[in-house]
Amino acid sequence: CGIFAYIGGRPVLITLITGLKRLDYRGYDGAGVGLVNPQTKEIVIAKQAGAVSILEQYIQASCRGSILDKSSDFTLGIAHTRWPTMGAPTTQNTHPFFSNDKQWCVCLNGIVENSSKLTEQMMKEGYTFESENDVEVIAVLLEHLSKTYPDDPLSCFVATLSVIEGAYALCVLHASEERIYAAKLSSPLCIGIGDNEEKFLSSDPIAFREYTENVIHFDDNEICIISKDSFSVHKFRPSEGLEKDISHELRLHRTVKIPFSLDELELGNYPHYMLKEIYEQPVAVQRTYSGRIGPTHKSANLLDIKITLPPQLNSIVFLACGTSYYASQIGKYIIERETHIPVRCEYASEFLTSARLFNRQDLVIAISQSGETADTREALLIAKRKGIEVAGLVNVVGSQIARIAGQGMYLHCGAEIGVASTKAFACQVAALIIFMLYLKKHLSSIRVSGDITPAHTPLLEPSPSFPSPQPNQPSSSRLFDPPVTKDVNGQPLEESIVRVCSALRDLPVLMQHVLSNTTTMSTIDEIVAFMKDRKSAIFLGRGIGYPVALEGALKMKEISYIHAEGYPAGEVKHGPIALIDEDMPVFFIVSASDSVVLTKIVNNMEEISTRGGKIITVTDCEPTNSDEKVQAQLKRVRSISAYTISVPCSDLCCSPILFTIPLQLIAYRIAVEKGINPDRPRNLAKSVTVE
Ligand code: G6P
Repeated sequence: CGIFAYIGGRPVLITLITGLKRLDYRGYDGAGVGLVNPQTKEIVIAKQAGAVSILEQYIQASCRGSILDKSSDFTLGIAHTRWPTMGAPTTQNTHPFFSNDKQWCVCLNGIVENSSKLTEQMMKEGYTFESENDVEVIAVLLEHLSKTYPDDPLSCFVATLSVIEGAYALCVLHASEERIYAAKLSSPLCIGIGDNEEKFLSSDPIAFREYTENVIHFDDNEICIISKDSFSVHKFRPSEGLEKDISHELRLHRTVKIPFSLDELELGNYPHYMLKEIYEQPVAVQRTYSGRIGPTHKSANLLDIKITLPPQLNSIVFLACGTSYYASQIGKYIIERETHIPVRCEYASEFLTSARLFNRQDLVIAISQSGETADTREALLIAKRKGIEVAGLVNVVGSQIARIAGQGMYLHCGAEIGVASTKAFACQVAALIIFMLYLKKHLSSIRVSGDITPAHTPLLEPSPSFPSPQPNQPSSSRLFDPPVTKDVNGQPLEESIVRVCSALRDLPVLMQHVLSNTTTMSTIDEIVAFMKDRKSAIFLGRGIGYPVALEGALKMKEISYIHAEGYPAGEVKHGPIALIDEDMPVFFIVSASDSVVLTKIVNNMEEISTRGGKIITVTDCEPTNSDEKVQAQLKRVRSISAYTISVPCSDLCCSPILFTIPLQLIAYRIAVEKGINPDRPRNLAKSVTVE
């Protein structure tokens, strides 16, 4: 959901609608505004199910001559765009909500977890409800508590916060006042302060970037009260009420610049944000590595990043959701392969509800584009509260996860508006490569607990880096002694860092090559024509290709509405192979740079082909590869595939970024062919701020 509020000298209604339009990537199942009429001391609400544009049309068509039409002297209002958590996507269930006496008006992002109990209590008190939405009870509670605190809306607001449970960013109007009350717990909320003291509250600074570049992000349990010429912020504790005004301190120490320009938020010549962001990927990746790896190919020149490792590292744990989770799986593959440091990837939502364990010597890293995803945020908080070292890989500067983590890396990939993540995924992978290089650079001083041996045989040769555990040595400590000078693949550390840095630097050009390759585009045309009427697809990969397959399947589901499953190619024979017939398209991600994987995946392709499955292959097999065995396998890959897309060869670490581009384009193009708006996929939202 997106929340927006304004107080100042601009035409309020237009300002609210403009802000909501910027936010509607966060939810487009209902939009509404609530304004105070300063003359009559009445609140006016307009709301509609659907996207903000529907609300706008409704206001233009139905509110002619109404008070909304004459709202030019109004100074404040609150607004909301909805992604439903409770209550169907109807106008009735759309925010804002009135109290019964219409003196209070409420918009909320998040969830009121004790709403059923509170609603029941309020019904017993004689109040009525018009919606099935959990938020309406807050408006009713405000009315009810105003009997205890007559003429004291602030106390009433504070008392209401004391009884609601859940996660929220909340904005409230009271009819008799030209003030907005706001509060935050677990959901993002920030304030933009523009010229002449005009103020904007929102879940995301995107909503007010065109008016000001100054933003303050609120912390949990902060309450903000704004009027035309004042702004106060207080810490709030349910048992103790409000603490002293901290607004001055906030202005001095927490005002930051919004890190993107207005131009970045515009579509330009692109029909959709998703396509724009796919094409922005080469530049975005460059932004991620700029300042982190040096500009020349000669030396590693890897600048340190600010992530403190535990004194004796047990393992790295990634917490993430959605596309970020798949990026984390690529990170796991790369880090384990290149450093032999164990990595675990956890779906943040599962982590919250299962008995997963942390070791005190783990390093826990939350990966999140938005820095807001509630599950990731909560899982990270659990780790932090346990005193475990935490960090973040986050795109949105100043976001909640970034602030909780306190250390890590920003992706710097610019604002990502498309609901389906594309450029953030590429930048997450790039950031994970840089993190792997950082670990590699410090490998000689990193102490990994436990006696770790990689499964891959070529890497198992006894080396000074991996001494066998001595009987008298505690099994919990594996020390790199003497200091490591070579990496686990036998390559001198410096050399291997140079190798990957250099591949990373070359990557944007290769990405551009994929995006402008006419052969690739015409193969994509053919695949789109073939795929658009299909009901399902299977995506398969091995090794680093497996998480790519998962991401490809996710894009296909979320944007094209084609049921797609991502699977490790070797697992297919344990179940999904039963689905294979002439009607089942099977996407294979074939990485030629991993010879073990190549041989095995060709076998898997044969298994599918034998059963009539239609194979679509994305590979980095370049016809110029000189190895004869590889050449033979590549030939087989091509002959067995109905369609083959070749992306340029790169270092194995960078290859997932190249493989993903055609998969993103295929999902995008199918969506457009089917008349689906890829920027507004059904039931999805960009930032999921509820657990
Ligand atoms: C939503 C978005 C996805 C995103 C996921 C995780 O589901 O639609 O595109 O990958 O959330 O978001 P995060 O901001 O934490 O990366």
